[in-house]
Amino acid sequence: MSKPFVYVTRQLPDDVLKPLREQAEVECWPYTDEPVPRETLLEKAAEAEGLLTMLTDQVDEELMERAPRLKVAANLAVGFDNIDTKEASKRGIIICNTPDVLTEATADLGFALLMASARRIPEAAEYIKNDEWHQWSPFLLAGSDVHGKTLGIIGMGRIGAAIAKRSKGFDMNILYHNRSRADEAERDLGAVYASKEELLRHADFVCIVAPLTDETKGMIDKKAFQYMKSSAFLINVSRGPVVNEEDLIDALERKEIAGAGLDVYEQEPIGANHPLLQFPQVTALPHIGSATTATRKKMVSLAAENIALVLQGKEAATPVKQ
Ligand code: DGY
Repeated sequence: MSKPFVYVTRQLPDDVLKPLREQAEVECWPYTDEPVPRETLLEKAAEAEGLLTMLTDQVDEELMERAPRLKVAANLAVGFDNIDTKEASKRGIIICNTPDVLTEATADLGFALLMASARRIPEAAEYIKNDEWHQWSPFLLAGSDVHGKTLGIIGMGRIGAAIAKRSKGFDMNILYHNRSRADEAERDLGAVYASKEELLRHADFVCIVAPLTDETKGMIDKKAFQYMKSSAFLINVSRGPVVNEEDLIDALERKEIAGAGLDVYEQEPIGANHPLLQFPQVTALPHIGSATTATRKKMVSLAAENIALVLQGKEAATPVKQ
């Protein structure tokens, strides 16, 4: 009997894919840094029983319609807003993501972005590189305190809780807003539940960790920025469209907030002429939340394991609730 065909939409480490190769014929799009063209993805999906996809691939109705054998799509991310999970559910296609293995790395990056924004680290590093440092001066590149301040977490899931845990080392107060109460974070970290408005009004750092859904799309808008303190920072390590970017640009122009630390954007990738990059008080990163080599390898391994399990007729390790 021939092995099932699995298509992987980027070149990924061969050693990590090895266990999957033992039970499936695995083909990878040959580039790591370039997304697979839509037409190629549709052609390959037509033959595939499994897909290992990136957040840059749209796994939508059109694709599923053209993929009659597809049993499983495993996304190399915890977020899965690039996948039409309702359509997959109708067709009995299992969708998987990669939670847990990326929690700590993403929380590290989120907290680094908070620190970098508050203490103006990218600006200060550029200052030296541009040969602008001619003397010490009392308020040279003076930033904002982090210790003792209030962190507001919107989306107290695993990554939110891991960021909150880091903030305890900085004696921060934690407010959070979430669909449901996070008992563990309340008990173990002293996190205090707040309405969205209360959180926005009191937080010195508003950290977005909520997934992109119909409910969260554009939730940080003009009104939200008006609630925020003019000394507060917005940190987003979730998905760009959770924040209304036009309203963010407006808020930065009007100095309604002090700055932003962003890892994600409405449309990705962004170019050097993007309006957000004109603000010195914006620290912008190219969607690298979970990007450590060790974490990315664990994510690949988990995605491959999920595909292997479903192709063996077993339950996936981390299926998305559909
Ligand atoms: C995720 O896992 O959703 C991240 O955005 C990828 O780094």
